[in-house]
Amino acid sequence: MKHIYTGKTKDVYELEGGNYLLQFKDDVTGVDGVFDPGANTVGLSIEGAGRAGLKLTKYFFEVLKEKGIPTHYVDADIEKATMTVKPAEVFGKGLEVICRYRAVGSFLRRYGLYAEEGQALDAFVEVTLKDDEREDPPISEDALDMLGVLTKDEYKVLKELTKQIGNVVKEELAKKDIELYDIKFEFGRTGLDKQIVLIDEISGGNMRAYKDGKYIEPLVLEKLFL
Ligand SMILES: Nc1ncnc2c1ncn2[C@@H]1O[C@H](COP(=O)(O)OP(=O)(O)OP(=O)(O)O)[C@@H](O)[C@H]1O
Ligand SMILES: [Mg+2]
Repeated sequence: MKHIYTGKTKDVYELEGGNYLLQFKDDVTGVDGVFDPGANTVGLSIEGAGRAGLKLTKYFFEVLKEKGIPTHYVDADIEKATMTVKPAEVFGKGLEVICRYRAVGSFLRRYGLYAEEGQALDAFVEVTLKDDEREDPPISEDALDMLGVLTKDEYKVLKELTKQIGNVVKEELAKKDIELYDIKFEFGRTGLDKQIVLIDEISGGNMRAYKDGKYIEPLVLEKLFL
C-alpha cells in the first residue's frame, strides 16, 4: 500500500485495486495542549481518540448506507483504526460544508449583531474553504461557481445532501436525548460519472452535540452514544 497523504488526524494510503485506506490517529486538533475541534493545528494526542472517532464514523456511515445516501464508505476495522473508502476528488483544494441547527461557534462570532447565542436555525447550510493559512474562510455559492470550485448544479446537490445527512445524524443523536447544534462535512466526486458523495468522517470532532444544555466532548460522545 502506498502512502499518499499525512493529515492532521488521519493518514491516507492507496490500496492495491485503487481504494483508499484512512488510518485514524490519536492526534486531535487544539491549541497549546487544549482540545478544540475547530482548531487548524494538532494540539495534543489522546490515547484511543482515533478508535473512538472511527467507531462513530462507522456507525453513521452504515446508517447512511441503509438509507441509500451516497458516501465513500466501504468498510472499517476498529482494531486497526482503519477505514477503507472509495477515492474521491475534492472540490478545489477542499471544502467544508456546515449544517447548523443552533447559533454557536463561528456563526455567532460573525453574526452576533443579529443572532442570539443558541438561537434555533433551520438546518442552515454554509460552505468554507479548507485553507488553514486563511483560517477556512466562508464562501458563497456565486463565488464557488465564479472561481471554478464547483458548479451551481453541484452546489444544489451538495446543499441537499448536507441537509439530508445532517438530519440523519440529528435524529440518531436524538434517540439518546442528545441535541445536535452543528456539524461539518466533506464531499467529493467519485467514479466516472463524478457522483457527489460524502467523504472523510463523521465523529465527535466534526460536530457540536449537547445533552441537557451542556456541550459533550467528542470522546464522551462516543461513550454516551454508542
Ligand atoms: N474518499 C476520499 N478520497 C480522497 N480524499 C479523502 C477521502 N476521504 C477523506 N479524504 C481526505 O483525507 C484527508 C484526511 O486527513 P485529515 O482529516 O487528517 O486531514 P485534515 O487535517 O482534516 O485536513 P488537511 O486535509 O488540511 O490535512 C483530508 O484531507 C480529507 O479531505
Ligand atoms: Mg479532517
